[in-house]
Amino acid sequence: MGRISGIPAWKRGLLVGIMGLTAVGAAAGIRGRQIERMAAVIGDASGAEESGSPEPAEEILEKENLTEEAGSGEIKKIALTFDDGPHPCYTEQLLDGLAERNVKATFFLLGTNIEGNEEIVKRIAAEGHLIGNHTYYHVDITKLEEEEACREILDTSEQITAITGQTVEYIRPPFGNWDKELEYEVMMIPIFWSVDTLDWTTKNTDQIVQKVVSDIEENDIILMHDSYDSTVKAALRIIDLLQADGYEFVTADELILE
Ligand code: NI
Repeated sequence: MGRISGIPAWKRGLLVGIMGLTAVGAAAGIRGRQIERMAAVIGDASGAEESGSPEPAEEILEKENLTEEAGSGEIKKIALTFDDGPHPCYTEQLLDGLAERNVKATFFLLGTNIEGNEEIVKRIAAEGHLIGNHTYYHVDITKLEEEEACREILDTSEQITAITGQTVEYIRPPFGNWDKELEYEVMMIPIFWSVDTLDWTTKNTDQIVQKVVSDIEENDIILMHDSYDSTVKAALRIIDLLQADGYEFVTADELILE
């Protein structure tokens, strides 16, 4: 039984009404597609390492451009998202590269990694990136009692708000496991992903770049982790390649709320 049943009926109706009309509806819209893509990624993950030397990313883009309709003129939006940070050195390297390229990204932070890295969190917010919640201890929210799950989420949001002064509206649940009832409990919108770079398994810059560049579609949300040097390098190279190909990098909320 969800705790929502303990909320007075009028308030419950209001909550469901507001959330249903706006955010949840929009988030649910993209969720189906994200899950499909996730399944595809999981399906081919085992074969990824066996493939030989990767095709250069530039060549993949060139080929794709030949098949695209010329001159549509529309800006193709995509979002880079980084989980599990902040990291004491790689997050700032990434922030430097993003600033140089005038790109905004999304960071889903772990409460346990925020401790001692408050200045980095402040910088992420000050530079206009979106900060979301990734729970305190990187837990599978669906395996916890509701009270504990709420605490994981709300403690992390409070911690972020205390540093940035901003309300945290979005959560990326670890492992992509989300309990929909919690949406009403914590009043947060889940953001999943459509391209999984598997950066944490390969730690190979070329493979990460190739994976993203060959899979990319408009409105994709790309999952990465700012915990590795290889990821920072890959992210910046992906930006350079895809900006040249007409993509605009936006924060993830822009894609789910459209
Ligand atoms: Ni994570």
